[in-house]
Amino acid sequence: MKDLPTPYYLIDETRLQQNLEIIQRVRERSGAKSVLALKCFSTWCVFGLMRRYLDGTTSSSLFEARLGYEEFGKEVHAYSVGFSRDDIRAVREFADKIIFNSLSQLTLHYPDVQGGNLGLRVNPGISYSHFDLADPARRYSRLGVADKAAIAEASVLLKGLMFHFNCENDEINSFIRSLDLIGRDYGELLRRMDWVSLGGGLSFTKAGYPLDTFCAALRDFAREFDIQVYLEPGEAAVTQSTELVTTVIDKVHNEIDIAIIDASLEAHMLDHLVYRTTPSIASPRAGEHPVMIAGRTCLAGDVFGEFKLAEPLDIGSEVRIADAGGYTMVKTNWFNGVAMPSIVVRRLDGRVERIRSFGYDDFKRSLS
Ligand SMILES: Cc1ncc(COP(=O)(O)O)c(C=O)c1O
Repeated sequence: MKDLPTPYYLIDETRLQQNLEIIQRVRERSGAKSVLALKCFSTWCVFGLMRRYLDGTTSSSLFEARLGYEEFGKEVHAYSVGFSRDDIRAVREFADKIIFNSLSQLTLHYPDVQGGNLGLRVNPGISYSHFDLADPARRYSRLGVADKAAIAEASVLLKGLMFHFNCENDEINSFIRSLDLIGRDYGELLRRMDWVSLGGGLSFTKAGYPLDTFCAALRDFAREFDIQVYLEPGEAAVTQSTELVTTVIDKVHNEIDIAIIDASLEAHMLDHLVYRTTPSIASPRAGEHPVMIAGRTCLAGDVFGEFKLAEPLDIGSEVRIADAGGYTMVKTNWFNGVAMPSIVVRRLDGRVERIRSFGYDDFKRSLS
Protein backbone atom coordinates (compact mmCIF):
# COMPACT_ATOMS: atom_id res chain seq x y z
CA MET A 1 0.00 0.00 0.00
CA LYS A 2 2.87 2.34 0.79
CA ASP A 3 3.90 2.47 -2.86
CA LEU A 4 0.47 3.51 -4.11
CA PRO A 5 0.47 7.17 -5.06
CA THR A 6 -2.10 9.25 -3.19
CA PRO A 7 -4.78 10.44 -3.36
CA TYR A 8 -6.98 7.38 -3.73
CA TYR A 9 -10.32 6.08 -2.60
CA LEU A 10 -9.75 2.75 -0.89
CA ILE A 11 -12.83 0.53 -0.97
CA ASP A 12 -12.56 -2.35 1.49
CA GLU A 13 -14.69 -5.27 0.33
CA THR A 14 -14.67 -6.90 3.76
CA ARG A 15 -16.24 -3.82 5.30
CA LEU A 16 -18.63 -3.50 2.38
CA GLN A 17 -19.68 -7.08 2.90
CA GLN A 18 -20.68 -6.35 6.49
CA ASN A 19 -23.32 -3.92 5.22
CA LEU A 20 -24.36 -6.27 2.45
CA GLU A 21 -24.88 -9.13 4.89
CA ILE A 22 -27.26 -6.95 6.90
CA ILE A 23 -29.16 -6.08 3.73
CA GLN A 24 -29.45 -9.77 2.95
CA ARG A 25 -30.65 -10.48 6.48
CA VAL A 26 -33.36 -7.85 6.05
CA ARG A 27 -34.53 -9.56 2.88
CA GLU A 28 -34.61 -12.97 4.56
CA ARG A 29 -36.45 -11.76 7.63
CA SER A 30 -38.83 -9.23 6.10
CA GLY A 31 -39.19 -10.21 2.44
CA ALA A 32 -38.18 -6.68 1.41
CA LYS A 33 -35.93 -6.62 -1.65
CA SER A 34 -33.13 -4.06 -1.89
CA VAL A 35 -31.92 -2.27 -5.00
CA LEU A 36 -28.75 -0.22 -4.83
CA ALA A 37 -29.27 3.54 -5.33
CA LEU A 38 -26.60 4.29 -7.93
CA LYS A 39 -26.83 8.03 -7.24
CA CYS A 40 -24.94 7.30 -4.02
CA PHE A 41 -22.43 4.80 -5.28
CA SER A 42 -21.72 3.75 -8.86
CA THR A 43 -18.21 2.38 -8.54
CA TRP A 44 -18.83 -0.71 -10.58
CA CYS A 45 -15.57 -2.53 -9.87
CA VAL A 46 -17.19 -3.90 -6.69
CA PHE A 47 -20.57 -4.76 -8.23
CA GLY A 48 -19.44 -8.38 -8.50
CA LEU A 49 -19.56 -8.59 -4.70
CA MET A 50 -22.63 -6.38 -4.27
CA ARG A 51 -24.81 -8.30 -6.70
CA ARG A 52 -24.56 -11.40 -4.52
CA TYR A 53 -26.49 -9.58 -1.81
CA LEU A 54 -28.70 -7.03 -3.54
CA ASP A 55 -31.61 -7.54 -5.94
CA GLY A 56 -30.53 -4.97 -8.50
CA THR A 57 -30.14 -1.24 -8.91
CA THR A 58 -32.21 1.90 -9.01
CA SER A 59 -31.27 5.01 -10.87
CA SER A 60 -31.85 8.71 -11.34
CA SER A 61 -31.09 8.94 -15.04
CA LEU A 62 -30.72 6.97 -18.25
CA PHE A 63 -26.97 6.65 -17.77
CA GLU A 64 -27.25 5.26 -14.24
CA ALA A 65 -29.95 2.84 -15.37
CA ARG A 66 -27.73 1.69 -18.23
CA LEU A 67 -24.77 1.23 -15.91
CA GLY A 68 -26.94 -0.87 -13.59
CA TYR A 69 -28.07 -2.99 -16.54
CA GLU A 70 -24.59 -3.43 -18.01
CA GLU A 71 -22.50 -3.87 -14.90
CA PHE A 72 -24.81 -5.03 -12.09
CA GLY A 73 -27.54 -7.02 -13.81
CA LYS A 74 -30.54 -8.36 -11.89
CA GLU A 75 -33.45 -5.91 -11.55
CA VAL A 76 -33.11 -2.49 -13.13
CA HIS A 77 -35.40 0.20 -11.71
CA ALA A 78 -35.33 3.34 -13.81
CA TYR A 79 -36.45 6.54 -12.14
CA SER A 80 -35.76 10.10 -13.14
CA VAL A 81 -37.10 13.47 -12.13
CA GLY A 82 -37.44 14.14 -15.84
CA PHE A 83 -37.15 11.64 -18.69
CA SER A 84 -36.87 12.99 -22.22
CA ARG A 85 -38.49 11.04 -25.04
CA ASP A 86 -35.08 9.76 -26.12
CA ASP A 87 -34.34 8.68 -22.54
CA ILE A 88 -37.57 6.70 -22.38
CA ARG A 89 -37.03 4.99 -25.71
CA ALA A 90 -33.56 3.95 -24.61
CA VAL A 91 -34.42 2.95 -21.05
CA ARG A 92 -37.49 0.88 -21.97
CA GLU A 93 -35.19 -1.54 -23.79
CA PHE A 94 -33.66 -2.83 -20.57
CA ALA A 95 -35.45 -1.48 -17.49
CA ASP A 96 -37.62 -3.88 -15.51
CA LYS A 97 -39.55 -1.02 -13.95
CA ILE A 98 -39.90 2.59 -15.00
CA ILE A 99 -40.87 4.99 -12.23
CA PHE A 100 -42.22 8.40 -13.20
CA ASN A 101 -41.87 11.46 -11.04
CA SER A 102 -45.04 13.22 -12.15
CA LEU A 103 -48.39 12.56 -13.77
CA SER A 104 -47.44 14.70 -16.73
CA GLN A 105 -44.35 12.51 -17.33
CA LEU A 106 -46.54 9.41 -17.07
CA THR A 107 -49.08 10.80 -19.53
CA LEU A 108 -46.45 12.11 -21.94
CA HIS A 109 -44.49 8.88 -22.12
CA TYR A 110 -47.29 6.36 -21.67
CA PRO A 111 -47.65 5.62 -25.41
CA ASP A 112 -43.97 4.60 -25.46
CA VAL A 113 -44.10 2.32 -22.40
CA GLN A 114 -47.64 0.96 -22.46
CA GLY A 115 -47.83 -2.52 -20.99
CA GLY A 116 -44.56 -2.07 -19.06
CA ASN A 117 -44.11 -2.38 -15.32
CA LEU A 118 -44.74 1.27 -14.43
CA GLY A 119 -44.52 3.09 -11.14
CA LEU A 120 -45.14 6.59 -9.87
CA ARG A 121 -43.32 8.53 -7.20
CA VAL A 122 -45.63 9.79 -4.47
CA ASN A 123 -44.94 12.77 -2.25
CA PRO A 124 -46.65 11.72 0.98
CA GLY A 125 -46.13 15.17 2.51
CA ILE A 126 -44.03 13.75 5.34
CA SER A 127 -40.29 13.29 5.56
CA TYR A 128 -37.34 12.83 7.85
CA SER A 129 -34.30 14.92 7.01
CA HIS A 130 -31.86 17.05 8.95
CA PHE A 131 -31.38 19.23 5.89
CA ASP A 132 -33.90 21.36 4.02
CA LEU A 133 -31.75 20.84 0.93
CA ALA A 134 -32.48 17.10 1.01
CA ASP A 135 -36.08 17.26 2.24
CA PRO A 136 -38.32 15.74 -0.47
CA ALA A 137 -41.47 17.01 1.25
CA ARG A 138 -40.32 20.60 1.53
CA ARG A 139 -42.55 23.41 0.32
CA TYR A 140 -42.89 23.48 -3.47
CA SER A 141 -41.17 20.10 -3.73
CA ARG A 142 -41.18 18.79 -7.31
CA LEU A 143 -40.35 15.27 -6.14
CA GLY A 144 -43.35 13.04 -6.56
CA VAL A 145 -47.11 13.52 -6.80
CA ALA A 146 -48.99 14.88 -3.80
CA ASP A 147 -52.52 14.84 -5.23
CA LYS A 148 -54.05 11.60 -3.95
CA ALA A 149 -57.18 11.75 -6.08
CA ALA A 150 -55.08 12.21 -9.21
CA ILE A 151 -52.86 9.25 -8.26
CA ALA A 152 -55.96 7.10 -7.75
CA GLU A 153 -57.24 8.10 -11.18
CA ALA A 154 -53.94 7.14 -12.83
CA SER A 155 -53.55 3.97 -10.81
CA VAL A 156 -54.97 1.69 -13.55
CA LEU A 157 -51.77 2.39 -15.51
CA LEU A 158 -49.52 1.54 -12.57
CA LYS A 159 -48.09 -1.55 -10.94
CA GLY A 160 -46.19 0.21 -8.19
CA LEU A 161 -45.61 3.33 -6.11
CA MET A 162 -42.37 4.81 -4.84
CA PHE A 163 -42.08 6.81 -1.63
CA HIS A 164 -38.70 8.31 -0.76
CA PHE A 165 -39.14 10.25 2.45
CA ASN A 166 -36.02 9.69 4.57
CA CYS A 167 -32.50 11.04 4.76
CA GLU A 168 -29.99 9.58 7.21
CA ASN A 169 -32.84 8.33 9.37
CA ASP A 170 -31.58 6.14 12.20
CA GLU A 171 -34.70 6.51 14.35
CA ILE A 172 -36.85 3.42 14.00
CA ASN A 173 -39.86 4.99 15.72
CA SER A 174 -40.04 7.82 13.23
CA PHE A 175 -39.84 5.31 10.38
CA ILE A 176 -42.64 3.20 11.86
CA ARG A 177 -44.83 6.27 12.38
CA SER A 178 -44.30 7.23 8.74
CA LEU A 179 -45.06 3.72 7.57
CA ASP A 180 -48.31 3.75 9.55
CA LEU A 181 -49.24 7.05 7.98
CA ILE A 182 -48.51 5.80 4.49
CA GLY A 183 -50.56 2.67 5.17
CA ARG A 184 -53.45 4.77 6.42
CA ASP A 185 -53.35 7.34 3.62
CA TYR A 186 -52.47 5.11 0.65
CA GLY A 187 -53.68 1.67 1.80
CA GLU A 188 -56.47 1.44 -0.77
CA LEU A 189 -54.06 2.27 -3.57
CA LEU A 190 -51.36 -0.07 -2.28
CA ARG A 191 -53.77 -3.00 -2.31
CA ARG A 192 -54.12 -2.50 -6.05
CA MET A 193 -50.35 -2.47 -6.66
CA ASP A 194 -47.83 -5.29 -7.08
CA TRP A 195 -44.95 -3.43 -5.44
CA VAL A 196 -44.04 -0.44 -3.36
CA SER A 197 -40.64 1.09 -2.91
CA LEU A 198 -39.95 2.83 0.38
CA GLY A 199 -36.88 4.60 -1.05
CA GLY A 200 -33.57 5.11 0.68
CA GLY A 201 -32.29 7.24 3.53
CA LEU A 202 -32.65 4.56 6.22
CA SER A 203 -29.52 3.92 8.28
CA PHE A 204 -30.37 0.29 8.94
CA THR A 205 -26.83 -1.03 8.56
CA LYS A 206 -25.56 1.22 11.34
CA ALA A 207 -24.29 -0.52 14.48
CA GLY A 208 -27.05 -0.83 17.06
CA TYR A 209 -29.93 -0.29 14.64
CA PRO A 210 -32.95 -2.31 15.85
CA LEU A 211 -33.06 -4.68 12.88
CA ASP A 212 -35.68 -7.03 14.34
CA THR A 213 -38.17 -4.22 14.81
CA PHE A 214 -37.36 -2.87 11.34
CA CYS A 215 -37.86 -6.27 9.69
CA ALA A 216 -41.09 -6.90 11.57
CA ALA A 217 -42.47 -3.52 10.46
CA LEU A 218 -41.57 -4.21 6.81
CA ARG A 219 -43.01 -7.72 6.94
CA ASP A 220 -46.28 -6.56 8.52
CA PHE A 221 -46.62 -3.79 5.96
CA ALA A 222 -46.09 -6.21 3.07
CA ARG A 223 -48.62 -8.66 4.51
CA GLU A 224 -51.24 -6.04 5.26
CA PHE A 225 -51.22 -4.72 1.70
CA ASP A 226 -50.24 -7.98 0.01
CA ILE A 227 -47.41 -6.23 -1.76
CA GLN A 228 -43.70 -6.68 -2.57
CA VAL A 229 -41.70 -4.10 -0.63
CA TYR A 230 -38.47 -2.66 -2.02
CA LEU A 231 -35.82 -0.61 -0.26
CA GLU A 232 -33.37 1.59 -2.16
CA PRO A 233 -30.27 1.71 0.05
CA GLY A 234 -27.47 3.98 -1.05
CA GLU A 235 -25.52 5.18 1.95
CA ALA A 236 -26.63 2.17 4.02
CA ALA A 237 -24.99 -0.18 1.50
CA VAL A 238 -21.59 1.49 1.53
CA THR A 239 -21.33 3.23 4.87
CA GLN A 240 -17.89 2.94 6.52
CA SER A 241 -16.55 0.87 3.62
CA THR A 242 -14.19 3.39 2.05
CA GLU A 243 -11.40 5.77 2.98
CA LEU A 244 -9.92 8.66 1.06
CA VAL A 245 -6.17 8.17 1.45
CA THR A 246 -4.12 11.36 1.13
CA THR A 247 -0.71 12.83 1.84
CA VAL A 248 0.16 16.13 3.51
CA ILE A 249 1.85 18.30 0.89
CA ASP A 250 2.32 21.46 2.92
CA LYS A 251 1.99 22.73 6.43
CA VAL A 252 1.30 26.39 7.13
CA HIS A 253 0.54 28.37 10.26
CA ASN A 254 -2.05 31.09 10.64
CA GLU A 255 -2.87 31.19 14.37
CA ILE A 256 -3.27 27.40 14.12
CA ASP A 257 -1.39 24.63 12.31
CA ILE A 258 -2.89 23.84 8.93
CA ALA A 259 -2.01 20.70 7.00
CA ILE A 260 -2.76 20.88 3.28
CA ILE A 261 -3.44 17.47 1.77
CA ASP A 262 -3.30 16.34 -1.85
CA ALA A 263 -7.10 16.09 -2.08
CA SER A 264 -10.00 18.51 -1.85
CA LEU A 265 -13.29 18.62 0.04
CA GLU A 266 -14.79 20.59 -2.84
CA ALA A 267 -13.69 18.17 -5.53
CA HIS A 268 -13.61 14.79 -3.74
CA MET A 269 -16.06 14.86 -0.81
CA LEU A 270 -18.42 17.56 -1.95
CA ASP A 271 -21.37 16.71 0.27
CA HIS A 272 -19.52 17.82 3.39
CA LEU A 273 -19.21 21.25 1.85
CA VAL A 274 -22.80 21.33 0.66
CA TYR A 275 -24.27 20.18 3.98
CA ARG A 276 -21.60 21.88 6.13
CA THR A 277 -20.67 18.67 7.92
CA THR A 278 -17.23 17.47 9.00
CA PRO A 279 -15.77 14.11 8.01
CA SER A 280 -13.98 11.90 10.52
CA ILE A 281 -10.32 11.04 10.27
CA ALA A 282 -9.61 7.31 10.16
CA SER A 283 -5.87 7.75 10.57
CA PRO A 284 -3.96 9.08 12.42
CA ARG A 285 -6.17 8.26 15.39
CA ALA A 286 -7.62 10.94 17.69
CA GLY A 287 -5.16 12.35 20.22
CA GLU A 288 -3.60 15.51 21.54
CA HIS A 289 -2.25 17.34 18.51
CA PRO A 290 -4.55 20.04 17.14
CA VAL A 291 -4.49 20.60 13.39
CA MET A 292 -6.72 21.92 10.66
CA ILE A 293 -6.81 19.68 7.58
CA ALA A 294 -7.46 21.54 4.37
CA GLY A 295 -7.74 20.81 0.67
CA ARG A 296 -5.45 21.94 -2.10
CA THR A 297 -7.88 23.99 -4.22
CA CYS A 298 -7.96 27.78 -4.10
CA LEU A 299 -11.38 27.84 -2.43
CA ALA A 300 -10.83 29.51 0.97
CA GLY A 301 -13.35 27.17 2.58
CA ASP A 302 -11.87 23.97 1.14
CA VAL A 303 -11.38 22.70 4.67
CA PHE A 304 -11.98 19.14 5.91
CA GLY A 305 -12.09 20.33 9.54
CA GLU A 306 -10.19 20.91 12.76
CA PHE A 307 -9.04 17.79 14.52
CA LYS A 308 -6.92 16.59 17.44
CA LEU A 309 -4.74 13.71 16.30
CA ALA A 310 -2.45 11.22 17.99
CA GLU A 311 0.50 12.33 15.86
CA PRO A 312 1.53 15.76 14.61
CA LEU A 313 1.17 16.02 10.83
CA ASP A 314 4.17 16.90 8.71
CA ILE A 315 4.84 17.12 5.03
CA GLY A 316 4.66 13.53 3.78
CA SER A 317 2.33 12.27 6.54
CA GLU A 318 -0.52 10.04 5.43
CA VAL A 319 -4.07 11.15 6.32
CA ARG A 320 -7.06 8.89 5.79
CA ILE A 321 -10.50 10.44 5.66
CA ALA A 322 -13.14 8.01 6.92
CA ASP A 323 -16.43 7.02 5.35
CA ALA A 324 -15.65 8.27 1.87
CA GLY A 325 -17.82 5.86 -0.16
CA GLY A 326 -21.27 7.42 -0.46
CA TYR A 327 -21.92 10.51 -2.59
CA THR A 328 -18.19 11.05 -3.16
CA MET A 329 -16.95 9.25 -6.27
CA VAL A 330 -20.27 10.01 -8.00
CA LYS A 331 -19.75 13.72 -7.37
CA THR A 332 -16.07 14.30 -8.08
CA ASN A 333 -15.17 17.25 -10.26
CA TRP A 334 -12.07 18.73 -11.86
CA PHE A 335 -12.14 22.10 -10.03
CA ASN A 336 -8.68 23.69 -10.18
CA GLY A 337 -7.51 20.73 -12.23
CA VAL A 338 -6.37 19.04 -9.03
CA ALA A 339 -5.36 15.39 -9.25
CA MET A 340 -8.33 13.05 -9.20
CA PRO A 341 -8.07 10.28 -6.57
CA SER A 342 -7.61 6.89 -8.14
CA ILE A 343 -9.87 3.98 -7.21
CA VAL A 344 -8.31 1.18 -5.22
CA VAL A 345 -10.04 -1.92 -3.89
CA ARG A 346 -8.97 -4.24 -1.11
CA ARG A 347 -10.61 -7.49 -2.16
CA LEU A 348 -12.08 -10.01 0.26
CA ASP A 349 -8.88 -12.09 0.09
CA GLY A 350 -6.74 -9.08 1.04
CA ARG A 351 -5.36 -8.39 -2.44
CA VAL A 352 -5.11 -4.68 -3.16
CA GLU A 353 -5.93 -3.63 -6.73
CA ARG A 354 -5.56 -0.20 -8.18
CA ILE A 355 -8.51 -0.28 -10.54
CA ARG A 356 -8.43 3.11 -12.15
CA SER A 357 -6.21 6.15 -12.10
CA PHE A 358 -6.85 9.49 -13.72
CA GLY A 359 -4.42 11.82 -15.42
CA TYR A 360 -4.11 14.98 -17.40
CA ASP A 361 -5.86 13.41 -20.40
CA ASP A 362 -9.00 12.74 -18.32
CA PHE A 363 -9.01 16.34 -17.15
CA LYS A 364 -8.55 17.62 -20.67
CA ARG A 365 -11.19 15.29 -22.10
CA SER A 366 -13.77 16.47 -19.55
CA LEU A 367 -13.64 19.84 -21.31
CA SER A 368 -13.09 21.04 -24.82
C1 LIG B 1 -35.41 8.12 -4.68
C2 LIG B 1 -34.21 7.83 -3.86
N1 LIG B 1 -33.92 6.55 -3.54
C3 LIG B 1 -32.83 6.22 -2.82
C4 LIG B 1 -31.97 7.19 -2.36
C5 LIG B 1 -30.75 6.77 -1.58
O1 LIG B 1 -30.72 7.36 -0.33
P1 LIG B 1 -29.56 7.01 0.72
O2 LIG B 1 -28.26 7.06 0.01
O3 LIG B 1 -29.67 8.07 1.74
O4 LIG B 1 -29.88 5.64 1.24
C6 LIG B 1 -32.22 8.55 -2.65
C7 LIG B 1 -31.33 9.60 -2.17
O5 LIG B 1 -31.48 10.75 -2.41
C8 LIG B 1 -33.38 8.87 -3.43
O6 LIG B 1 -33.65 10.14 -3.75
